[in-house]
Amino acid sequence: MRRERRRVTGVEQVGPYTLLRVDAGGLDAGEPGQFFMLEAPGRLLPRPMSVCLAVAGELAFLIDPIGPGTRALCALERGQELQVLGPLGNGFDLDVERPLLVGGGIGIAPLPFLSERLGGPPAIVGFRSDWHAEAAPLVPNAEVCIEPVYVTELLPDDPGDVLACGPEPMLQALRARVSHQGGGAQLAWEAPMACGYGACYGCAVEIDGELKRLCVEGPVLRAA
Ligand SMILES: Cc1cc2nc3c(=O)[nH]c(=O)nc-3n(C[C@H](O)[C@H](O)[C@H](O)COP(=O)(O)OP(=O)(O)OC[C@H]3O[C@@H](n4cnc5c(N)ncnc54)[C@H](O)[C@@H]3O)c2cc1C
Ligand code: FES
Repeated sequence: MRRERRRVTGVEQVGPYTLLRVDAGGLDAGEPGQFFMLEAPGRLLPRPMSVCLAVAGELAFLIDPIGPGTRALCALERGQELQVLGPLGNGFDLDVERPLLVGGGIGIAPLPFLSERLGGPPAIVGFRSDWHAEAAPLVPNAEVCIEPVYVTELLPDDPGDVLACGPEPMLQALRARVSHQGGGAQLAWEAPMACGYGACYGCAVEIDGELKRLCVEGPVLRAA
């Protein structure tokens, strides 16, 4: 884990999302599913973002502008600098036999990097509109659905090793579907995070009756 001040190398609009590219400098991209805390200009606390792409000396983050911090990040321009801390947390376990990537909405953010590391396995991605689905081509080999069709409806009877990221209802539905198949699915969860490295307890969630810090134990957890 390192903290560095990095320069923005590109800002692209992808449907409603922004793909923010920064010069990686001395930062290690980490494993898919790990995240970085990005300084949000004008905000006190940084915001957690998954690595979307790690190529040619750049780290790219796909950002949904849902509030003041994410809007400030999306408003950054090429050449500006921001503080970047990471990689943080536990990513996906890549030792899987039959990977199937599943993503919903901005939850597709870690899938391009994950797909690249796993050699382009099949994927299912779902969005709430055609506009949001403009991000789908970022994920190779993806079957795409738009609401009212949900990703769970495209899941095969024997889905193999599911690796997923998306809204909580989608993760809960996947968890219910795959738990009777051995519970081996890997699900990336979210919680508001203030520090990102275990110091503030802001991200504590109850897992099996115990409070755990999602930034340290997760964000990727086994469904079981
Ligand atoms: C490990 C991790 C990786 C993430 N990766 C990405 C990513 O790649 N791209 C991306 O766009 N977003 C990602 N997020 C979510 C992103 O960090 C939040 O959307 C952002 O912090 C919101 O900040 P804001 O100031 O824009 O909005 P805020 O005003 O802080 O929040 C807007 C609304 O969203 C809710 N909210 C904020 N953060 C979260 C959260 N983490 N979980 C659930 N609800 C929340 C708030 O309660 C509020 O209702 C990730 C979150 C985590 C924990
Ligand atoms: S975000 Fe501070 S402990 Fe997890």
